[in-house]
Amino acid sequence: MEGEIQAQNAETEQQVKNQNEQSQQSANQVANEEVKQSDNQQQLLSNTIKYGDQVVFYESVNSMKMQTIVENGFFQNRFGYFGHSEVVGKQFGQKIFNLKKNAFIYLLRPDPVLITDTLSHLTQILYQADISYVISKMNIQPGSIVVESGTGSASLSSSIARTIQDEGHLYTFEFNEARAKNGAEVLAAQGLKNFDVIWRDVLSNGFMPIPGERVYNLKEHSADAVFLDLPRPYEAITHAKQVLKKGGRLCCFSPCIEQVMKNCEEMRIQKFVQIVTIEVIQRPFERRERTFQSAFQVLNPNFINNKRKRDEVGDNAQEQENIQEDQQQQIAAEDENENNDEENNQDDEQGEDEEESQEEADQANKKGKQNKNNKKDKRNKQQNNQNGSKPIPQFIRPQITKVVYSSGPKEIKGHTGYLSFGICI
Ligand SMILES: C[S@@+](CC[C@H](N)C(=O)[O-])C[C@H]1O[C@@H](n2cnc3c(N)ncnc32)[C@H](O)[C@@H]1O
Repeated sequence: MEGEIQAQNAETEQQVKNQNEQSQQSANQVANEEVKQSDNQQQLLSNTIKYGDQVVFYESVNSMKMQTIVENGFFQNRFGYFGHSEVVGKQFGQKIFNLKKNAFIYLLRPDPVLITDTLSHLTQILYQADISYVISKMNIQPGSIVVESGTGSASLSSSIARTIQDEGHLYTFEFNEARAKNGAEVLAAQGLKNFDVIWRDVLSNGFMPIPGERVYNLKEHSADAVFLDLPRPYEAITHAKQVLKKGGRLCCFSPCIEQVMKNCEEMRIQKFVQIVTIEVIQRPFERRERTFQSAFQVLNPNFINNKRKRDEVGDNAQEQENIQEDQQQQIAAEDENENNDEENNQDDEQGEDEEESQEEADQANKKGKQNKNNKKDKRNKQQNNQNGSKPIPQFIRPQITKVVYSSGPKEIKGHTGYLSFGICI
């Protein structure tokens, strides 16, 4: 009896324990859900535009502008006026309409690509093709210590500072005072704090802190990478070596090959290894869509001679000739296919029954030709129906051709200079 009671007690205890575990689990679930919700809210809030944020007003790939959102501020383009007060509270990525509601722009969060595309050019700048290559080739990553000169318009500086994140540091040197000030503003406006902009002529004074001048924390042989984009970079390579750690990367950017030769020679003298020079070429492609006129319109002499109509079409005569040629080729190809089909059919038929008499084969042949002629007649009839009663030659087929194609530029764009890399040992 006592044993039974003990067993019952143990069972009840186990049940209570299970219940407690279950309620603990559901409490955890609720807590997790709450955390998730508040994370979502945080995310939503951080995606909400407020005063002081930088926003890219995006009209098209060739027309965008970055502004800091301020009271009474506005963005204006050919479509109208967009007040900053309307932008506050909207989400990054959202589109907003002008007052007439007949045009809109997108509100984008600045990223390194958009920053490079929209920042004020105080100097020649580095573009994304070079920037991305430089960053990966120099192994710049979160936590890296990077030294750069000159700051220029802070295009490269922006990408570097964002890549190295809070745990890294960028020391960027510029001898033009206004540009140094602008560089610091451009980086600070992006909410970055991991940088020092130092107003300095690096050819004369190098990169190390000078007693009595601006204080910053760069130590000898501590930098993971040094990037030089200034006239006569070869004169700054000794200074670069002073701050680079062993295994650190150096890159000299030069617009002409004479400088490249001097940079590489100086790197060799300074015992850099793996010296290579790269030119990064960017070749953008465009996707286009076009609707061409029918072959009938193209070949109709009235149409050709009627300049007004031709202007409406907007295609030049050469283009029209090309279309006409394409269409004729298309028809010829179709006809050829039909012939091939016919031959194949004949081959099959012959293969299946070798005993078939010549008479039967001739009949099949005749039938095939008849089918082909029927098809052509049908095609002609269709054309006549569409274009009035006047019979038109077989190759003139009224149709609207929609063509999607991508076109590359005739000139290769993107060359701004040569990148010479070396590793410090
Ligand atoms: C072509 S810009 C750099 C552009 C920059 N890489 C960018 O992406 O925006 C060259 C800059 O180097 C600066 N510079 C030239 N000689 C210098 C020197 N000896 N020390 C420091 N900066 C110098 C110039 O004032 C100029 O702003």
